[in-house]
Amino acid sequence: MRTQVCIIGGGPSGLLLSQLLHRAGIDTIVLERRSRAHVLGRIRAGVLEWGSVELLEEAGVAQRMFAEGKPHGGTYLAAQNRGFRIDFERHTGRRVMVFGQTEVTAELYKARDAMQGQILHEVEGVALHDLDGRAPFVTFTREGREERIDCEFIAGCDGFHGPSRKAIPESVRREYERVYPFGWLGVLSETPPVSEELIYANHARGFALCSMRSENLSRYYVQTPADADLSAWDDDRFWDELRRRIPEDAADRLVTGPSIEKSIAQLRSFVSEPMRWGRLFLVGDAAHIVPPTGAKGLNLAFGDVRYLSDALRAYYDSGEAAGIDGYSETALKRVWKSERFSWQLTTMLHRFPEQSAFDQRMQEAELEYLEGSPAAQASLAENYVGLPFYSRG
Ligand code: APR
Ligand code: PHB
Repeated sequence: MRTQVCIIGGGPSGLLLSQLLHRAGIDTIVLERRSRAHVLGRIRAGVLEWGSVELLEEAGVAQRMFAEGKPHGGTYLAAQNRGFRIDFERHTGRRVMVFGQTEVTAELYKARDAMQGQILHEVEGVALHDLDGRAPFVTFTREGREERIDCEFIAGCDGFHGPSRKAIPESVRREYERVYPFGWLGVLSETPPVSEELIYANHARGFALCSMRSENLSRYYVQTPADADLSAWDDDRFWDELRRRIPEDAADRLVTGPSIEKSIAQLRSFVSEPMRWGRLFLVGDAAHIVPPTGAKGLNLAFGDVRYLSDALRAYYDSGEAAGIDGYSETALKRVWKSERFSWQLTTMLHRFPEQSAFDQRMQEAELEYLEGSPAAQASLAENYVGLPFYSRG
């Protein structure tokens, strides 16, 4: 088989890249290790920056998001059961869109099918070859047969555990990591959300987050120790713990019900540099992970897709190589700013096992400063709604 851009990974990054390139007349094949049902069974965050919304619009997959998603003009922060609001619209003139990532992915699959996009599922043993030459290729097995795709470029959209990042020689790769000493226990329940907007709560018992997918589908999280055992968390224990950590008026209103999904995720910050090696480009979770506290994971991945699709379009339209040559540098600038924001929000809102009395006071002072300072609120709002894709900074 032959294509212009071979895309490894059929998560949201790979699918969106494939869709945008196809619309620009650039041929792609997507290789995905799992079945489509498996990819669509994963529950992920649900907040889209407006830049992500616009990118989905440009890709022609925005219809259901506009019909069913909810724009949010602000969010609540809380400290010790008392909340205050950060007004995104007032400070930035922008909003975010609350629409689940699983739904985004479903819409992308539909759009790819409608354009007869090639997505090969359940491929095994994907290996990348000749990345630093002119003629890279990818080998894999499908239904027991060895196959090969010759291409001009490879986009590594295969998430944190995929083979693409590891195909960059160790002598070239630099990795930066922080693993946080806690996780998030998440519950999805068919209950009305406790609040119209999200609530991020700092509490002596640990962080909690109230989020949502729709009018009758809520997503809640509580911070747990890194080694927490999921089986020790029945629904009653979860709801009791959540109620204790959120503002009192919210706790009084909280409607509980059986969980329809429950899982624990470890929190991590991670960046691998460079994001380009020869004819391989890394995109999304393949190159970087953020803790979920600022809802940046998907948005950061879509930023990479923005840069790479623009760069490849310029290259194929007019032979202009500056975009692809500068991809890693351009993308990493935005990545590091989002890493900083996600780390800072995580640090401000969670209880650390080794937290000293001084650290404790610093957290309290930071939250009080934020509550009282329009300048601090503007900074949080600017980052939360998303930094521009192209800027000088
Ligand atoms: N071969 C083919 N595909 C692979 C391989 C492999 N060896 N390894 C992983 N994949 C696939 C995974 O099955 C997954 O569907 O790559 C895809 C990567 O998707 P994501 O992990 O969702 O990463 P990405 O598309 O970059 O999305 C980034 O979405 O997943 C969230 O937390 C993530 O919010 C972030 C955003
Ligand atoms: C979610 O809805 O799952 C969600 C929302 C905001 C976050 C993280 C997760 O910061």
